Amino acid sequence: MLRASLSISAVCIKEFRYISFVSIILIRKMTEINTDTFYEAILKLTKEAGKLITDNINNRNKLTEVKASDIDLVTETDKAVEKLLMDGLSKQFKDHKFIGEETVSAGGNLHLTDAPTWIIDPIDGTLNFIHSFPHSCVSVALFIEKKPEIGIIYNPMMNQLFTARRGKGAFLNGNQIHVSNKKALNEALIMLEGGTSRDTEKMKTVYQNQQKLMPKVQGLRALGSAALNMAMVALGAADAYFEFGIHIWDIAAGELIIKEAGGVVIDPSGDDLKRFSRRVLAASSPELAEKLSKELVQFYPTPDDS
Ligand code: IPD
Ligand code: CA
Repeated sequence: MLRASLSISAVCIKEFRYISFVSIILIRKMTEINTDTFYEAILKLTKEAGKLITDNINNRNKLTEVKASDIDLVTETDKAVEKLLMDGLSKQFKDHKFIGEETVSAGGNLHLTDAPTWIIDPIDGTLNFIHSFPHSCVSVALFIEKKPEIGIIYNPMMNQLFTARRGKGAFLNGNQIHVSNKKALNEALIMLEGGTSRDTEKMKTVYQNQQKLMPKVQGLRALGSAALNMAMVALGAADAYFEFGIHIWDIAAGELIIKEAGGVVIDPSGDDLKRFSRRVLAASSPELAEKLSKELVQFYPTPDDS
């Protein structure tokens, strides 16, 4: 009797395990089908946003407003792109949330929950855009359960569309890309930025790091867009990038694209990335990330989640 009930329980446990296994597979498949739909939708909207940017880039009298400093600016096109993306996505995906640069500037949501959340920088490289300097991009990421699932960086002037989906690799215009794998500082081309703040301590750190790094690395570059700097690391055209003072929308898409291209994205101290800390270091290899991190004079802006 006891033996019979024991073997019945064993069968039940086996069946329960099987059902749980099948359910997990089904849930994964359904999530994948959903992310396919999300990906198609955002690709279409990003192309439309790109057209808004190319239509307006050569206008030398763009309507511009000042935000946190006299070099932190927003144009009508930044706002129009953010609206186009948010309206288009929320019409199709009613339960999705948003963190958008210009919406946050106007006092909107800056809180990441487990809900599917689109993190949007409508024009990264706004200052470039104002000057008709053709290095600006739309940068969009979708986070689900606080993990990046989709990342898109699109420079419509250069016709460069960087894409990544979690576990599926990173691509430029449909062709798979990979980081350079460089490990030595003296062979590295490093992206850095002056940023959009006039804070004296922050500017001092920028100068100090430039001075320290210049004799030790192969070259320093600044594209004027955090997202495009990260895209260059993913492409293997640059080997590392760091910045103090960025926000989550500057790096959200770049993080996934670099990781899917085989690179690393961490905190400049060498710790794990904290997405609201306003600090980032991306590199083509963990070795290069560690070497760069040890060289850097650190700066700690007030985090966005403090
Ligand atoms: C800025 C650019 C710039 C970086 C700043 C960002 P915006 O974003 O990415 O390269 O140095 O930290 O805020 O204002 O052009 O969207
Ligand atoms: Ca930006």
